[in-house]
Amino acid sequence: MERFFVSTPIYYVNAKPHLGHAYTTVVADTLTRFNLLMGAQTYFLTGTDEHGDKIVKAAAASGQSPKEYADHISSLFRDLWPKLGIANDQFIRTTDPKHVKVVQEVLQKVYDAGDIYFGEYGGHYCFGCERFYTEKELVDGLCPDHQTKPEYIAEKNYFFRMSKYQGWLIDHIKANPDFIRPRQYRNEVLSLLESGALEDLCISRPKSRLTWGIDLPFDSNYVCYVWFDALINYLSALGWPRGEKFKKFWPFANHIVAKDILKPHAIFWPTMLKAAGLTPYLSLNVHGYWLVREAKMSKSLGNVIEPLKMVDAYGVDAFRYFLLREMVFGSDAAFSEEALVGRLNADLANDLGNLFNRSLAMCHKYFGGKIPIPQEEGPEDAEIKRLGREAMEKFQRHFEEFQCSRGLEGLWEMVRGLNKYIDSTAPWTLFKNKNTARLSTVMYVLLENMRKIAVHLWPVMPASAERMLAQLGMTFDKEKVYLPKELDAWGILDSGSQVAESSNLFPRVELPEPAPTPKPEGAPKPAPKAEPLAEAEFEDFQKLDIRVGTVLEALRHPDADKLLVVRVDLGEAEPRQIVSGIAEFFKPEELPGRQVVVVANLKPRKIRKQLSQGMILTVKTEAGMELLATPGQVPGGSRVS
Ligand code: MSP
Repeated sequence: MERFFVSTPIYYVNAKPHLGHAYTTVVADTLTRFNLLMGAQTYFLTGTDEHGDKIVKAAAASGQSPKEYADHISSLFRDLWPKLGIANDQFIRTTDPKHVKVVQEVLQKVYDAGDIYFGEYGGHYCFGCERFYTEKELVDGLCPDHQTKPEYIAEKNYFFRMSKYQGWLIDHIKANPDFIRPRQYRNEVLSLLESGALEDLCISRPKSRLTWGIDLPFDSNYVCYVWFDALINYLSALGWPRGEKFKKFWPFANHIVAKDILKPHAIFWPTMLKAAGLTPYLSLNVHGYWLVREAKMSKSLGNVIEPLKMVDAYGVDAFRYFLLREMVFGSDAAFSEEALVGRLNADLANDLGNLFNRSLAMCHKYFGGKIPIPQEEGPEDAEIKRLGREAMEKFQRHFEEFQCSRGLEGLWEMVRGLNKYIDSTAPWTLFKNKNTARLSTVMYVLLENMRKIAVHLWPVMPASAERMLAQLGMTFDKEKVYLPKELDAWGILDSGSQVAESSNLFPRVELPEPAPTPKPEGAPKPAPKAEPLAEAEFEDFQKLDIRVGTVLEALRHPDADKLLVVRVDLGEAEPRQIVSGIAEFFKPEELPGRQVVVVANLKPRKIRKQLSQGMILTVKTEAGMELLATPGQVPGGSRVS
């Protein structure tokens, strides 16, 4: 597609931004970046929805005027986005005079066409939803969303003849399978439309009840209903009716919303557009809710997640990756820090981070960091290329359908495939056997594939992808990348250019420590008495090469209960195998991912028939044993001095 216009909902300014808002906006940002790399001209719109009862009430509660209050909360949204790596092209506010003018123009147009009429209406009004409910829609007499009893209000108001467009809308949805997606929401809307007559929509509020809104151009005793006002932001932002941006981007409009606002977007909005003589949007993309402790986030439940806290703790790119990977677009997903830490460690630290770091380290050990010239390819190379092509193709196809989670899942087949490729081609053996020709090809295949992975990841983790490419000796230029070409492109990395020595872009993360509980005994137990050793010469100490490494795997020693056989990544081409007497204190499954301090130049020896290439340093206390480590994560192979 040559152009791509995407919007998020414009968020109410009655509360601070939370994880739910962050998710929708991260998805929009990611898809904008993705479409840019697919060769499209893109435009990405977000903003704030500032009129209506909700805002008046929230402002009054904080002792501010609606405008002051809206200015403040709107700026919280606007300022948050860059901190989440989000690069929107526009931030619209419904209090912008340009937007107000466009709303009035649309109202006048629809009024002149005879689709707005004045009538008496009595209905159940929910202040939380800012809308009237019919008897049928209430659940046990309560608002289905807020579980509160709506107020019965009878008054004269203006109505939009929505019912007139019911048949047209049904036909349009049926003729355009991607108009509302995923499919379950399309079906939901169709069954709603087909279950009975659509009612007309009340689009005004008398000023006697609400003044914080846009005046109806044809009756100054009324303001416009907040939804009729808000939906029009998608047009006013593009400069409707004569703006260049409108002409250029409206035919390519894709909206993203959560299921809470399906009906206004799937029913009010297309019928409003039709009545105003405009073509409907291209697609409405609907996602589920982030649930926290099994409930939708809400201030009253106290389960609101603040995006910036997650960014501070885990980094912006890791947080974006988690959001996009964890939620299957369309379904609900549960948010917990445990799930986040688990996924980051499994997918980013273990799968991707290790692959990347190992590839760079091997390139250094075998070729001094210079990308070698590949030689003749063998069947293993053809196979990994085929697998990579398939994975990238899946990634692109799913992202085109807004299914980022499935797309990433697809790409990870390539990440895991490459990890296996290292194990099966065993570059260390090729090196030992001086098979430089084969080693050059294997190395090139690895690095070129890492490049392909990095460019595909740019939409998801822009800063990390750019750093990965820099570590591969390249600069990223978004204007030059074209993802469809990447499926078959080969040989883009320049042989001879220099790669970084190691990479620690995706460190292992840990859950924050729970607040310490004071020990009943007071002071810590004294350390067991250890006799001082004789003095050592400085030169003797200097002989030791002590390094920090990351445990990849730990297994029980087949013949000794007290020993574990641990594989440690010291940032070298191959991991070390170290036999360590720690089995009484650590279970093998606790160790992968932990950093340890290793005496790396201890002469290799066999311990109970297993080769040990170093020693893991530990501290023995009366309470047991601790593994010596640095307070924070450091790149594997860092030297202790
Ligand atoms: N102002 C209206 C939208 C008008 S658009 C013309 C509105 N605002 S809102 O502040 O309530 O935002 C709702 C949107 O925020 C959802 O549709 C979704 O994009 C996002 N989310 C809010 N809570 C969410 C979750 N718990 N989970 C996922 N997304 C959530 O409605």
